[in-house]
Amino acid sequence: MEKATELRTDVLPVDISTVQVKHGHHDSKPFLGDWTIELQEGSVDARNIRRAATELQHSDIPVAFPTETVYGLGADATRSAAVQGIYKAKQRPSDNPLIVHIHSLQQLRALLQPSVCGADQQNINQNISDSDARIEAWDQDSNHDPIPPIYRSLISRFWPGPLTLIMPNPEHSFLAPEVTAGLPTFGVRMPRNLHALALLKLANVPLAAPSANASSKPSPTEAGHVKHDLNGRISTIIDGGPCEVGVESTVVDGLSDPPAVLRPGGVSIEEIRSCPGWSNVTIGYKDMSETLEERPRAPGMKYRHYSPRAPVILYEHGKSMPPAQEMESYLRGNKRLGVIRTATWPEACGLPTVTQLNGHTVAEEKTLLINGDASIMSSPAESTDANAAQVAKAWKLHVKLGPHAENVELWDINLEASPELIARGLFAALRELDKLDVDAIIVEGVDDSRGDVSAAVMNRLRKAAEVKI
Ligand code: TXA
Ligand code: MG
Repeated sequence: MEKATELRTDVLPVDISTVQVKHGHHDSKPFLGDWTIELQEGSVDARNIRRAATELQHSDIPVAFPTETVYGLGADATRSAAVQGIYKAKQRPSDNPLIVHIHSLQQLRALLQPSVCGADQQNINQNISDSDARIEAWDQDSNHDPIPPIYRSLISRFWPGPLTLIMPNPEHSFLAPEVTAGLPTFGVRMPRNLHALALLKLANVPLAAPSANASSKPSPTEAGHVKHDLNGRISTIIDGGPCEVGVESTVVDGLSDPPAVLRPGGVSIEEIRSCPGWSNVTIGYKDMSETLEERPRAPGMKYRHYSPRAPVILYEHGKSMPPAQEMESYLRGNKRLGVIRTATWPEACGLPTVTQLNGHTVAEEKTLLINGDASIMSSPAESTDANAAQVAKAWKLHVKLGPHAENVELWDINLEASPELIARGLFAALRELDKLDVDAIIVEGVDDSRGDVSAAVMNRLRKAAEVKI
């Protein structure tokens, strides 16, 4: 692949409390109707976010920005050269369709209409005002609404939020062909992260945005992850702190009969099923079958996705922790193992630690890592759950696996708490263990049959894992 010229990559913090959002007073739900923003002019925050918006409008180099799911790598979805820039930065061929991000239903309606005289920006903004005039508020008569009626209940309940809907792409679409990868449909979502919404509003173009990681790596849930992967390949990363959900959006196709979930994500299938018109929604992604067909395989053989450098060994929910001998077999050069525990496995997988043998306590041997006590969940508006900090910790323990592996460093991350916190911390945990250069990462799976975000967690883990047990 061609070597791109090195760019200077700036990480630009934006304090979102400096951005004022004003909602139209008739709106039954924030952001689904009219809304506007006001920046604190002259502030660094205003300058940073304006710079990102201007680059999205005029440059062909994509901009990374936070969403509530993962960081996205955004480009104007109506300009081919801009969308091609995403693939250049990610060093990935343009084979997958990309999700389009929008700031309003009016903007979506404009995309659902054919472009009359070529897909230029003035034209699409003209279309937006036309569709405004034709279709009044969301809550009124839906007869002439180009948004397929099946989606109304999902939009009212989950937008803005981590739900992507498959829409019919009109002939003479405004969207660049690279966005849809030749399909007659496109995926679209309205994110709820305020940084993302403000950027969409300022740029006032629909943004195609895949996750902002290098191809095959775990999706980025912090600005630092993006910097690590794409340094030199993009100019601007908007830093909005850690992502609230931590796994990508749920992708839903309501144009098929029955409707199907194409990718599990931040909104669970049970929540979708409970919406009017969606009781018969089916699972349209392969997941368990993949597990059964592929297991067990030797590390290093598989096309990687969501994967750190170290091989991931996934133990399905209910499998007990591996015996010491099995863990020893995963050691390569460093004699270092990473463990991500989620539900029932005991600390250090119950192995005796070397210090214990020397008469010390386990506690004395623990080294607090990863941001010290800094909570990984410091910024997003939602919770300051006391448990949240625990996803940011890894403990180093010297363990004795057996006669041939006496003094093994075991890095232990405990994500146990709730399905939501496991989802939020998963990708960061995989990346942290990679930094520590472990020989393998052993992961305790979660129960994905409960109809919550655990389905998304297991879907990503099964794709990341080289060996499934
Ligand atoms: O949470 C998210 O959705 C993140 C953040 C950045 O918003 N974005 C994301 O985008 O994951 P992306 O482009 O990586 O997702 C693409 C996936 C495809 O692999 C496919 O599963 C689905 O979205 N998709 C997109 N357009 C589709 C279409 N027309 N038909 C079926 N699936 C589609
Ligand atoms: Mg991705």
